Amino acid sequence: MIKYLGSKRRLAPTLADLAEAAGARTAVDLFTGTTRVAQVWKQRGITVTAADAADYSLVLAQCFIAMDSEQIDHEELRRILERLDRLPGRDGYVTETFCRQSRFFQEHNGRRIDAIRDAIEDYRDTSWYPILLTSLMLAADRVDSTTGLQMAYLKNWAPRSSRPLTLMAPPLLPGAGAAVQGDALAVAQSLPHVDLAYLDPPYNQHRYESNYHIWNTLIRWDSPEHYGVACKRVDLRDRTDRSPFNSRKTFAPALATLLSSVRADTVVVSYNDESWVTSDQIRDWLTATGHERTELVVFDSNRYVGARIGIHSPDGRKVGAVGRLRNQEWLVIAGSARTVDRLVSVGQQHGGRIGTHIHPNRYKIGQVGTI
Ligand SMILES: C[S@@+](CC[C@H](N)C(=O)[O-])C[C@H]1O[C@@H](n2cnc3c(N)ncnc32)[C@H](O)[C@@H]1O
Repeated sequence: MIKYLGSKRRLAPTLADLAEAAGARTAVDLFTGTTRVAQVWKQRGITVTAADAADYSLVLAQCFIAMDSEQIDHEELRRILERLDRLPGRDGYVTETFCRQSRFFQEHNGRRIDAIRDAIEDYRDTSWYPILLTSLMLAADRVDSTTGLQMAYLKNWAPRSSRPLTLMAPPLLPGAGAAVQGDALAVAQSLPHVDLAYLDPPYNQHRYESNYHIWNTLIRWDSPEHYGVACKRVDLRDRTDRSPFNSRKTFAPALATLLSSVRADTVVVSYNDESWVTSDQIRDWLTATGHERTELVVFDSNRYVGARIGIHSPDGRKVGAVGRLRNQEWLVIAGSARTVDRLVSVGQQHGGRIGTHIHPNRYKIGQVGTI
């Protein structure tokens, strides 16, 4: 899976067991990102809708959640990927922008990304399209030279960036599911009632479309004008379509409104102790929507790798302080009293503890990783 800030890699097994304990047959993952949580639920036989605002996330959801691996000709997929993988590299937007004007990929890989991405356009109107795009995104992620964010690249090439890019078949899953793109507030209103809803909103002002601008460009393949050291898309300067979940001022009202529109028997909200609202605010909003019980389960966790090594500008200057190394990940659980009790005990089996009122820590995560 791609490196992704806030990805629930560690919590995914817990969330899989929570869904099972809730007896969920249908579920929605409203800020699905990498689709990691939606995937573990699909693996448990749950029919999942994976939704997110980002273009690259829609492609991942189409590949891993909406696609039924039993409907795929795997031999044909292998042949297509082999053919794409053999294409000779050629100069294009990625080589020029992300290998020469910036240093996200080494040139031998950038030229192959250009050649392969051009060739994938031939499959645009087929069901192969999201699978091939996902394969390329995963392959490019394995040879990038970042700490996992595309706001900066490493001063010295990451050792993995020297390896040749290799396309592999994404691990597709059997079963039904749906992929939806859109603002969570609009998506929640349009979806039918589900057994379980999971909400994992952004935790700070850094926008995902900016953190992962290369993936959006790879998906859109629109050769945008760019700016700054990280060669970000100029359309990121547009202030009109900013997520309300990326601003201190709008986060709380947006989350309160969202929680009031989610239609689900059981709701699980992820958040942490370095952000903008208290755990009690989230619980109060969930209680106001009519849930019989709410509880907070807390997990101690390692923070994002950038916090541990610091961030450097291209000329080697340290531009991000090494910050706090641990934080608390919260799961706020709401539903019927019986279900919530069951889910809390599953959370405890996974190393969580019942939390009481927690204020966000005032540490400024935004200081890390910005150039
Ligand atoms: C913390 S991440 C989710 C990570 C995900 N649970 C995972 O494991 O990969 C937050 C996600 O919210 C998405 N997002 C931000 N604003 C949004 C909005 N208004 N509506 C829907 N999704 C949004 C971002 O694109 C990002 O993928």
